[in-house]
Amino acid sequence: MASSKGLIFAIIFAVLTIVKPSEAALDAHYYDRSCPAAEKIILETVRNATLYDPKVPARLLRMFFHDCFIRGCDASILLDSTRSNQAEKDGPPNISVRSFYVIEDAKTKLEKACPRTVSCADVIAIAARDVVTLSGGPYWSVLKGRKDGTISRANETVNLPAPTFNVSQLIQSFAARGLSVKDMVTLSGGHTLGFSHCSSFESRLQSFSKFHDIDPSMNFAFAQSLKKKCPRSNRGKNAGMVLDSTNSVFDNDYYKQILSGKGVFGSDQVLLGDSRTKWIVETFAHNQKAFFREFAVSMVNLGNFGVKESGQVRVNTRFIN
Ligand code: HEM
Ligand SMILES: *[C@@H]1O[C@H](CO)[C@@H](O)[C@H](O)[C@H]1NC(C)=O
Ligand SMILES: *[C@@H]1O[C@H](CO)[C@@H](O)[C@H](O)[C@H]1NC(C)=O
Ligand SMILES: *[C@@H]1O[C@H](CO)[C@@H](O)[C@H](O)[C@H]1NC(C)=O
Ligand SMILES: *[C@@H]1O[C@H](CO)[C@@H](O)[C@H](O)[C@H]1NC(C)=O
Repeated sequence: MASSKGLIFAIIFAVLTIVKPSEAALDAHYYDRSCPAAEKIILETVRNATLYDPKVPARLLRMFFHDCFIRGCDASILLDSTRSNQAEKDGPPNISVRSFYVIEDAKTKLEKACPRTVSCADVIAIAARDVVTLSGGPYWSVLKGRKDGTISRANETVNLPAPTFNVSQLIQSFAARGLSVKDMVTLSGGHTLGFSHCSSFESRLQSFSKFHDIDPSMNFAFAQSLKKKCPRSNRGKNAGMVLDSTNSVFDNDYYKQILSGKGVFGSDQVLLGDSRTKWIVETFAHNQKAFFREFAVSMVNLGNFGVKESGQVRVNTRFIN
């Protein structure tokens, strides 16, 4: 019974995947000749950085998502502000997308091994895969050949989905990047890693709506524990909550938590309340293999968005050439 159900889901996912057009002409073997050590250099840098700072995986995964969503996967997120321009990295949700130094370190080593060859956008995509695999998640072959962007604007971070979004808004935000409902629910599983500041979920804990003080889709005991972590006065600027109970392990616990009303963001918990997304949450909560397989597929889809096939390979991650 369980396995025939699993098979049906596998077929549905496969159909959803086939229908998807793949626009970008990226290639898994892009650097095979021009920089054969590229992936090894990036992996070693990411692995070492993670040993020193366990927050690195979550930050690099989120960095890839933000970079791709803002103006396509073009490493615009790495550019520094200039006197006349405030860059993405200094835009509003600036609270936890740090760890830029890891990408900078990898890029410095790559410039020594094979100058002006590996784009910063590809380094981010490879690092995002590596942190998932290093945290116990799936491995996939990253398509490469992106060029780097030259524009980065702080005001464009408003185009990121908000944690208060409902399912229709989430679907629309992902669809605008060529991503399906399945991609949206699957990629939200990135919240199996990492941490959130109180400000990102606090509106669910008091004066939520006209009729409810606390978001009624939230498990009551869980709401109380979040309130304790986020006292309204005397709280440190790092106050907040881990995104799932195994937040340094890439697993399907995120979906299990949603089933029990313990999604941290409204945008996580709403996935259970809508028939378009509920079945996917349930599938992944019961079948980690299916989640891993689909996460790999959806990360490749995310990495195809807005790719620049011509342009520059930035020498320094922080400045255009
Ligand atoms: C579906 C829409 C999404 C919304 C509304 C959303 C929102 C957020 C918010 C508000 C935070 C916490 C920021 C903070 O307070 O520090 C966060 C953290 C995070 N997000 Fe998302 N996110 C979404 C999708 C994604 C996707 C697609 C990924 C990656 C595949 C992702 C990966 C992460 C990670 C890893 C963290 C933890 C960062 C850390 O620990 O530093 N998110 N997200
Ligand atoms: C490993 O990471 C630490 C902390 O970021 C850094 O100081 C050190 O130089 C790194 N070592 C290598 C071999 O990259
Ligand atoms: C973003 O973070 C940096 C470093 O933490 C800080 O210097 C800067 O002022 C922040 N920018 C915004 C807009 O919050
Ligand atoms: C951001 O600002 C630029 C000009 O500085 C403007 O052209 C653009 O439309 C703005 N984008 C958003 C999303 O507000
Ligand atoms: C989702 O939010 C938008 C914007 O606030 C609203 O117009 C829409 O009615 C909401 N949809 C649902 C199904 O709640």
